[in-house]
Amino acid sequence: MTRILLLGKGGQVGWELQRSLSPLGELIALDHDSTDYCGDFSNLTGLADTVRAIRPDLIVNAAAHTAVDKAESEPELARTLNALAPQVLATESAKLGAWLVHYSTDYVFDGSGDTPWVETDRPGPLSVYGATKLEGEQLIAAANPRHLIFRTSWVYAARGGNFAKTMLRLAQERERLTVINDQIGAPTGADLLADVTAHAICQVTRQPDGEKDAGLYHLVAGGQTSWFDYAKHVIAQAQLVQPALQIKAQQVDPVPTSAFPTPAKRPFNSRLNTTKLQASFGLTLPPWQTGVNRMLAEIL
Ligand SMILES: NC(=O)c1ccc[n+]([C@@H]2O[C@H](COP(=O)([O-])OP(=O)(O)OC[C@H]3O[C@@H](n4cnc5c(N)ncnc54)[C@H](OP(=O)(O)O)[C@@H]3O)[C@@H](O)[C@H]2O)c1
Repeated sequence: MTRILLLGKGGQVGWELQRSLSPLGELIALDHDSTDYCGDFSNLTGLADTVRAIRPDLIVNAAAHTAVDKAESEPELARTLNALAPQVLATESAKLGAWLVHYSTDYVFDGSGDTPWVETDRPGPLSVYGATKLEGEQLIAAANPRHLIFRTSWVYAARGGNFAKTMLRLAQERERLTVINDQIGAPTGADLLADVTAHAICQVTRQPDGEKDAGLYHLVAGGQTSWFDYAKHVIAQAQLVQPALQIKAQQVDPVPTSAFPTPAKRPFNSRLNTTKLQASFGLTLPPWQTGVNRMLAEIL
């Protein structure tokens, strides 16, 4: 039976991966405070020992330093979690002939232009988070050819906090909301990421010529939006799903990014072109609204 090691099991994506990976083999899922094995990415030796002890056929890494603003003030920790720990996973999985699946981000790009980025476009991270995630990609690619790296954006899940839930709460508390309208991307569900991951794993590990599909892919839901239009969609959809919901906010105003200064710079253009993924794996990525509406129906 295939032995699968999942890291970061309690995060948005990790939680959904626990579901989608479970039919594929024996799943050993860890978080940073797991006690049976070390799943703490700040302990690189412990992490290597874990892989050597479990000897998985496949590692799926959903753990990361995802606090984008905090990373600016703790760049060493961010680099350890986002670059050096993935390198350990890649090196150890390569020794076993195992596959490594990993997630990266639209923040590897500088956000210029308005064309969706393709995998071969030149990265230019604006933040510590983006730079450390980019280094993680490069270290994995150098250490283990048997890898899948999925760059995604604007991840949400029914479980845990997310932008949509924050907007809903604020819309019930305040009469007026202001939301950024000059960053464009695609909200992407952790459930979609987990399902596509399981499908891609089956293809690369079970098809006779599956190895040819190893590499880097952009994976986001279809379409594009701004945070402003995303917020308006969430509020309107929530009222449809639950008409009794007390929404105070009569107005949502668009503002530029400069209205909300943050320690980390974010890209304006977060559009990711998913043609390569859809063609390689025979998949259709649903419009972003489909998953957001489903998540709202689930939480309301
Ligand atoms: N969220 C987004 O909008 C977004 C966008 C683009 C790409 N991505 C990428 O997608 C992947 C999954 O992100 P996500 O949204 O699921 O993130 P998340 O919900 O923040 O989950 C991150 C996971 O990493 C774990 N973690 C934190 N510090 C750790 C440590 N020292 N050792 C081991 N695990 C540690 C967390 O555990 P605890 O919670 O227990 O600390 C959590 O399980 C990441 O690679 C991220 O870079 C995310």
